[in-house]
Amino acid sequence: MQNISPKKAMNRNEIEKAPSPKVIAAIRRFDLAKAPRYFDGYYGSSLALELSRRFNMPRDQVSVGYGIEFFLRSIFDSCNPKRDVVLANTPHYTFYSFYAQAKGVRLETFRLADKGDRFEFDVEDCIKKIRAVAPKIVLITSPNNPTGNSITAKNFERILRAAPRTSLVVLDEAYVGFDDEYKEAAFLKLLKKYENMVILRSFSKRYALAGLRIGFALWGTRAKSIIRYDDLYLGGSQLLEDVAVAALNSEAYYRKLAREIITDREQLAAAVNKLKNFTAYESHANFVLVKIEPPLAKNFSIKSPIAKIVMPGFMRVSLGSHKHIAGFIAELKNAELKLKKINGRHD
Ligand SMILES: Cc1ncc(COP(=O)(O)O)c(C=O)c1O
Repeated sequence: MQNISPKKAMNRNEIEKAPSPKVIAAIRRFDLAKAPRYFDGYYGSSLALELSRRFNMPRDQVSVGYGIEFFLRSIFDSCNPKRDVVLANTPHYTFYSFYAQAKGVRLETFRLADKGDRFEFDVEDCIKKIRAVAPKIVLITSPNNPTGNSITAKNFERILRAAPRTSLVVLDEAYVGFDDEYKEAAFLKLLKKYENMVILRSFSKRYALAGLRIGFALWGTRAKSIIRYDDLYLGGSQLLEDVAVAALNSEAYYRKLAREIITDREQLAAAVNKLKNFTAYESHANFVLVKIEPPLAKNFSIKSPIAKIVMPGFMRVSLGSHKHIAGFIAELKNAELKLKKINGRHD
């Protein structure tokens, strides 16, 4: 598959591949006669219609927006800083803290347990915190950024059961689509059962369209009203909707792309785990969290453009081109060699 020429930061979990030929054709084919005109309000949305059909959801429970960020902003904006609390897992996507702080909204967290080769959602801790702070919003990211682990539908339902009916329980699925074990039907079933749940999805990662800013929300029956969410009055971008529908109609292309990413992920993890001072954590996303074991962790820095230190002792590696993956592994090997030399001097 064609690689898009990589530029600057490659450590933000974007896909270094071209979108599907159907997507490219949709952009080229866009009917410019549509440009001067608004959509016919929300109900003119071709993407919402397509999504409601694919997910078997009533159309008023499907919203289209400019990426998941668009919905996250609406969710935080609905909070009263004097009163409302958002509860999210930690570690989490940095935007959650960034935006909560910008809006003066209190962000409480519950733990992910470090199992040495993977992180796990600590559901007990989440339930304990729900009881303690009665959050207006419970925000779960699965697969989680930066840890790469995901939550099972069973555990997610435990959280839904514990949350007050007046809270919105959000599942941020920005990284869905790189996990063969993911049980979509089980989560959609929960959406039918729990009226205060919402699933957020993005075209940024799996569909390699981060720059075009397209995402959507699938709402439980009462979820929109909890945050007084109102669909776009004038509709979204007609060009983006055509692009998104073309992406949805390119499943064979994107399944192949996801397969390549999963293969790269497993190969990268295997190469890292051969080293003594690094551990690749289990990931269901298009990146891998790598633990830097002591004594290398202290003062460790990384030059590889696909890696980024995301918390003490851990770096997140976005799955870039094979050349970049090879370069990353070579850099780790070098760091080990250097350490060996230093230790040798001290022997
Ligand atoms: C967990 C998570 N949610 C949401 C987003 C943003 O998604 P979008 O590009 O659809 O706004 C990101 C981007 O990296 C992310 O890591």
